[in-house]
Amino acid sequence: MEKILVNGGRPLYGCVEVSGSKNAALPIIYACVLVKDKCIIENVPNVSDIRHSFDILRGIGAKIRTLTRTSVEIDCTGVKCGTSDYNLVRKMRGSYYLLGAEFGRFGRARVAYPGGCDFGVRPIDQHIKGFEALGGRVVTDGGYIEINSDSGRAKGANIYFDVSTVGGTLNIMIAAATGDGMTVIENAAREPHIVDCANFLNTCGANISGAGSDVIKIKGVEKLHGCTYAVIPDMIEAGSYMVAAAATGGSVRINNVIPKHLEAISAKLEEAGVTVEEFDDAVHVSREGELKHTNVKTLPYPGFPTDMHPQMCALLCLAEGVSFINESIFDNRFRYIEELRRMGAKIKVDGRIVSVEGGHPLSAAPLMAVDLRGGVAVLIAALTVEGQSEISEINLIERGYDDVVGKLRGLGADIKKVYLPDPVVQKKAN
Ligand code: EPU
Repeated sequence: MEKILVNGGRPLYGCVEVSGSKNAALPIIYACVLVKDKCIIENVPNVSDIRHSFDILRGIGAKIRTLTRTSVEIDCTGVKCGTSDYNLVRKMRGSYYLLGAEFGRFGRARVAYPGGCDFGVRPIDQHIKGFEALGGRVVTDGGYIEINSDSGRAKGANIYFDVSTVGGTLNIMIAAATGDGMTVIENAAREPHIVDCANFLNTCGANISGAGSDVIKIKGVEKLHGCTYAVIPDMIEAGSYMVAAAATGGSVRINNVIPKHLEAISAKLEEAGVTVEEFDDAVHVSREGELKHTNVKTLPYPGFPTDMHPQMCALLCLAEGVSFINESIFDNRFRYIEELRRMGAKIKVDGRIVSVEGGHPLSAAPLMAVDLRGGVAVLIAALTVEGQSEISEINLIERGYDDVVGKLRGLGADIKKVYLPDPVVQKKAN
């Protein structure tokens, strides 16, 4: 059992480098399945969701060579359809991009139903509606999603999404890139990772326009070629360090970011009394005075990201007065709250509204990461309080944060990763 031990109560100071975006790297890596050639992908975060994805792709015949800590060569020339490992695929959410990628390459797909963080019901009906519009016959059988088509190729179509879906938009964009004819996605999600994946596919010879707006046009091409492409910086990792700097009352320069992607986060931090300075590819976050209570509503990009909700909640526990967070994307992204309550936080949940009565002192405690961002929220809270907190289930944090312990230590945190024997296993052994 690996755990993180934190002795908090020290402001963070210094500089931290942000890694490549997990949620951009995932669709790009799976989109390589469309390419019968070598692609070099740079600025890839070294996180377990990405490593699992490499294992999934290797399992279907991709050749993946590590070039440096953050760049890989992916050659999908010899991949086979329908052979991905059930247990690896169901471990994570991003593996659903293999559906779009196999359908785009082979005109059919067979991939296990995806997993991912538990935020209540996470349907993929919009993905399926999109695949059907592209001429796929979709069935779920024995835990697998299967797509078949008569023509052996995705066929261009007009698709209107009922909700703004990041995964659905990317999956359909990937499937349609090498499809037959024009696909138009309306009410498309606009997140920066969608633009990044479109840019990658276009660099490989695809013809995609409008990514970043709510209408994306994809003119299918016969064939894609290899390329070298660098993934954008991770806006949620950056936002998490911004909040950590603010929560500990520190002063941190966060390098390798696109400040435009951070605007909603910067605006809310400023409302809460935090100073945020923007540079070309960095932001500097500092706080000297007291935090102010504020209200947040999570929204699709360019709104405040749901993936920053738990971290913001941890921060608002430290602000005098009552703050409200309205979670408008997921119906149950609240499991982390129990862990903050363990530290003494006064938080209530009513439907999708979280009310945080700030200003009550928090204390160090044995804590658990319940999901990726919830885990980091708890870690941020632990950094703010004196005494030792112990965080378990850190594999959930490591799904999406590259070297979080090393980066926080670089900012002066007293933090380490330790291996502690599982008490149940140890008792049995005794
Ligand atoms: N939805 C549907 N039907 C669908 C698809 C989505 O009803 O077919 C609903 C969802 O239930 C949710 C909303 O639409 O209420 C938005 O879901 P979306 O499809 O946008 O989310 P996702 O693709 O499952 C990705 C990220 C999440 C991030 C969300 C929102 C990846 C691998 N995952 O999930 O990232 O929270 O977009 O921005 O990119 C994380 O990194 O911690 C994380 C959870």
